[in-house]
Amino acid sequence: MIFQLSDFLFPETPARLFPDTAERPWVLEVGFGDGRFWPPFAHTFPEAPNYLGVELSGVSLLKAERRLRAAGLPNAVLTKLPASVVVREVIPAGSLDAIIVNFPDPWPKAGHTEQRLLRVPFFQLAAHRLKPGGAVLLTTDHDEYFEFACAEAEASGVMRVELAEPPAAALETKYALKWRDLGLGVHHARFIPTAHPTDSAAVSFAPYPKEESAVPHAILRLPDALHPQNLSQTHFDKYTARGGQHAADPVGWTVVLLDAYRSLAKDGLVFLAHVVEGELTQEVLVNVNPRPDGQFLVRLARFGGPIITPGVKAAVATVTAWLEERGAETTNRGY
Ligand SMILES: C[S@@+](CC[C@H](N)C(=O)[O-])C[C@H]1O[C@@H](n2cnc3c(N)ncnc32)[C@H](O)[C@@H]1O
Repeated sequence: MIFQLSDFLFPETPARLFPDTAERPWVLEVGFGDGRFWPPFAHTFPEAPNYLGVELSGVSLLKAERRLRAAGLPNAVLTKLPASVVVREVIPAGSLDAIIVNFPDPWPKAGHTEQRLLRVPFFQLAAHRLKPGGAVLLTTDHDEYFEFACAEAEASGVMRVELAEPPAAALETKYALKWRDLGLGVHHARFIPTAHPTDSAAVSFAPYPKEESAVPHAILRLPDALHPQNLSQTHFDKYTARGGQHAADPVGWTVVLLDAYRSLAKDGLVFLAHVVEGELTQEVLVNVNPRPDGQFLVRLARFGGPIITPGVKAAVATVTAWLEERGAETTNRGY
């Protein structure tokens, strides 16, 4: 089953994700590619563990979904999201039996190591989300990334490193075969939590709502020049706003208004906004629709199932600010 960000709770429960098998072990695979690892690995257990797979590539997601369906693995959820967002926001504390990472992107160029997943913050987060006895399992052909990951695990202060043989299924993935054809060897390590961090910012959940809060909106009067019939292309340039940084969220949000459209159905406007909050990006639509009293309602559209994060609320505020800068007068704010 494929889940979008908005399909999840923050945090989730195995009982909701895997209602028929909630008591089974729970495995997360990061960057599953075309999904070749999970079916043979799952079948090494008497009962297939529950599986959550995260991947950034949409093409891979569809290939893997077909593969898992053909293998008869109903207790599997796949999602197209960055791993750290899923581990931080979706996975409850002490709930995973394993986090499996096969052939992660090595980011080999100098200055790019910040892009690597297996760094201190990820290990601290993982130690908090794994059950006692759980582990992060890494298989890679890349000597330098392997040493880097082992050093980062040690430096995290919450993991010990155990070198071991990789699971057989990890040697049959698309990338395993690619590197084997080139004659490259494989490294495998188990990173085992030695502590369960409780007080680090890395282990707290971001302020995403557990339940959808009221849809952010504003009511305003538009000057004649901004009425949808009167707007023209010359009124619009890309527009960026930033904010929301505080102690618990030093990154904050960035909202870029990419474009605005006339709505034929409502005689209103629709703004397309790109919202970035750390590794989480969402594209949202913000409607500006006429009300019977002659004012306009600025409101987040439900299209695409956005998660109402602080950045998404800020998208509504940013559209409102854009209109105010051009003469609109806000009479009511709900964001
Ligand atoms: C080198 S490929 C390996 C794929 C597969 N594990 C295999 O062995 O064939 C790395 C995969 O990780 C995915 N990926 C990279 N960064 C990711 C992230 N932050 N979260 C989830 N997936 C990621 C990429 O899209 C890519 O498919």
